[in-house]
Amino acid sequence: MDIILFGPPGAGKGTQGELLAERLQLQRLATGDLLRDAGRQGTPLGREAKRYMEAGELVPDAVIMGLVREYLEEDAESGVIFDGFPRTEAQARALDELLAELGRSLCAVAVLTVPDEQLIRRISGRCTCPQCGAVYNQHLDPPRVAGTCDRCHSALVQRADDDEATARRRLEVYAQQTRPVICYYERTGTPVRHVAGDRPVDEVQRTLLELLAR
Ligand code: AP5
Repeated sequence: MDIILFGPPGAGKGTQGELLAERLQLQRLATGDLLRDAGRQGTPLGREAKRYMEAGELVPDAVIMGLVREYLEEDAESGVIFDGFPRTEAQARALDELLAELGRSLCAVAVLTVPDEQLIRRISGRCTCPQCGAVYNQHLDPPRVAGTCDRCHSALVQRADDDEATARRRLEVYAQQTRPVICYYERTGTPVRHVAGDRPVDEVQRTLLELLAR
């Protein structure tokens, strides 16, 4: 079972993707996380990607496809939830080719929709734990002690691309380069399901599970 979790920055792809992966026993492949890991390790790829990410721009398709191919070839058996990928039509086509090569295909594309002003509020309030990966939101889901992880008590950090100006650029890039990918899947016949993401996390998760069960 291979699924794409699609949507603008801050729509809840990471939050819902983690829950779905656990519930459906799937791997979650988040290209943003892979790029941030490479950045922390200081690899040449990580250093190149960081420049694009901090400007709110997309990392070149060839870099992304290299990462995705490596990931899928390492474990060609497990079903995958793709989070934040594909983001261009070229990536979508390349993914179709890669999956066909590996004898698999997509089941569905789930698109999370949230109004832009809510997205900005979510992104600018987000803080994450660098130690255990827990995600909080200063406005919507704060930790018990400000700036400290509830689970492991590490100091929380804000992503470099989560300031308001970069978040607005990321939304523009989504509208111009990524949203049109939905039309590609509608044209090529992969089921596309739209899910209102501006509801409590557990309600969104329930809807996703219902739609994916169809
Ligand atoms: P990436 O890391 O993929 O970021 P993104 O797509 O911008 O998405 P986010 O991580 O900001 O949000 P999300 O939808 O996962 O929401 P989350 O669950 O965290 O990409 C970063 C950069 O990497 C890109 O800009 C690009 O440069 C590069 N990149 C990555 N993939 C690429 C690709 N394929 N091609 C080219 N470049 C690529 O939630 C956000 C906040 O909202 C959290 O605080 C959360 O607690 C809160 N929240 C979540 N759900 C709810 C809810 N229902 N109600 C209230 N609050 C909620």
